Amino acid sequence: MKNFYITTPIYYPSAKPHMGHAYSSISADVIARFKRLESFNVNFLTGTDEHGLKIQRAAEKENKSPKDFCDIISKNFLDLTKKLNLSNTDFIRTTEKRHIDTVVRLWKTLVQKKEIYISKYSGWYSISDEAFYTNDEIEEKNGTKLSKTTGSRVDWVEEDSYFFKLSKWQSHLLDFYSNNPNFISPLVRKNEIVSFVKSGLKDLSISRTSFNWGIPVPSDNKHVIYVWLDALTNYISALNYYEKNNKNEFWPADFHIIGKDIIRFHCVYWPAFLLAADIKPPKKIFAHGWILSGEEKMSKSKGNILDPIEIIDNYGLDEIRYYLMKEVIYGEDGKITPENLANCINSDLANNIGNLYQRITSIIHSRLESKIPNCSPKDSTDVKILNLIDNNLNNLIATFNKLEIHNYTKSLIQLFSEVNKYVNDTAPWSLKEDSLDKRNIILYCVLEFLRKAFILLQPIIPDKSKIILDSLNVPNDERSIINITNSFKILPGTKINKIEILFKKHDN
Ligand code: ME8
Ligand code: MG
Repeated sequence: MKNFYITTPIYYPSAKPHMGHAYSSISADVIARFKRLESFNVNFLTGTDEHGLKIQRAAEKENKSPKDFCDIISKNFLDLTKKLNLSNTDFIRTTEKRHIDTVVRLWKTLVQKKEIYISKYSGWYSISDEAFYTNDEIEEKNGTKLSKTTGSRVDWVEEDSYFFKLSKWQSHLLDFYSNNPNFISPLVRKNEIVSFVKSGLKDLSISRTSFNWGIPVPSDNKHVIYVWLDALTNYISALNYYEKNNKNEFWPADFHIIGKDIIRFHCVYWPAFLLAADIKPPKKIFAHGWILSGEEKMSKSKGNILDPIEIIDNYGLDEIRYYLMKEVIYGEDGKITPENLANCINSDLANNIGNLYQRITSIIHSRLESKIPNCSPKDSTDVKILNLIDNNLNNLIATFNKLEIHNYTKSLIQLFSEVNKYVNDTAPWSLKEDSLDKRNIILYCVLEFLRKAFILLQPIIPDKSKIILDSLNVPNDERSIINITNSFKILPGTKINKIEILFKKHDN
């Protein structure tokens, strides 16, 4: 089995998770599940980023020690992985020993390779972004200095600091991007990064002395290691990278899934650290867009934070997973509104997918004692439905692997529409006596379509797909992409199990 390694960002446990975090994690989960369908051995990592001033401040506000504070909030993120039905194989916290040990090893390697020197930092720093900014990158609004890109407040900082020789890596990075044209996706993000690097890289401050919540710099514990050098290392520390073990085979990671806010860290700093430490960079960074609340970006100050738990409790998990994967173009911004959610659930899930299953199986339950009919389709219209998925399979797989998850989902729902039309046109419920053979052929072809279609829907709506595949008695080990065209077919004579209504409609 070939390995596949996918990660989400590790989130700051400074406040409870919101819908943006859930979106990142769900999209990574959909990819992880799809790669399993393609028979990859998948390692899927998520977790929390627990050091730094931002967390220390948040803990102080609650009168808690940073570690106690992180224990509580990190648990919310861990619980969310269950609520979202993530198939993650690991959850890392940067306060764990395996992580700290790896960061220390990486630091020592960089020192040994003469990539680090001590000097003094003076410049702007945003605690909220945990990022340094140049004069050109800030603006003043109502007497406050803000980052132009993120709008978060910056403060002037002057302190002793270790530096990483980032400037030295500028041309190496540009070579790396051109030799690995798929390293950064989508293209607009790649263009942004390439022009940023071309505009010139300064050495990067990688330690702080004005607070202590972090991993101490080895042999100079006045300093803690800059939280981004610390955090990015999670992707290898979760593998216990320096402990040479079989998890190492997952490196380099196939995909780092991130939001577009953190591309500079992932596409510039991270590969530079790794190249400097003689470690291969990851194969691909994919940056998705923002989930907007209505028309606006979610923010605490606007009070429009969408709570994933609330949305799931109101609409259902697979419903929201489906909505996010289909209605938001992967890589672009997308919004969540109650109207759009209800429309999508009603038209695609209830009226199209659910209805097709319902109308076919209700005939089987009422006329065929719930048994799958025996028949051999010959007419081209029937055979077309029987083979509809097979004939589109290569395209679907290619679309998914381009990470056009929205197009993959749309293509599948279009096939459901086509099959619903076939059922409307042939009206199997009206066929009686001398047309029973024809009726059975229609039923069988649609059931086979459903089997194959729900195999492909598993990554997006895993719970509902399981219910359908269980009801059709598809064995658990026959639910991969190779099983669509190979070997197993639903068995005539076996009984279909009755299920509850698959998708409830919502008022809109
Ligand atoms: O940046 N829409 O953590 P963070 C879509 N700890 N995605 C969103 C979003 C929104 N409105 N809001 C947040 C950090 N996200 C660092 C990462 S990784 C080594 C360290 C998602 O808690 C998106 O994936 O601020 C974004 O990149 C991430 O949450 C930022 O989470
Ligand atoms: Mg953030």
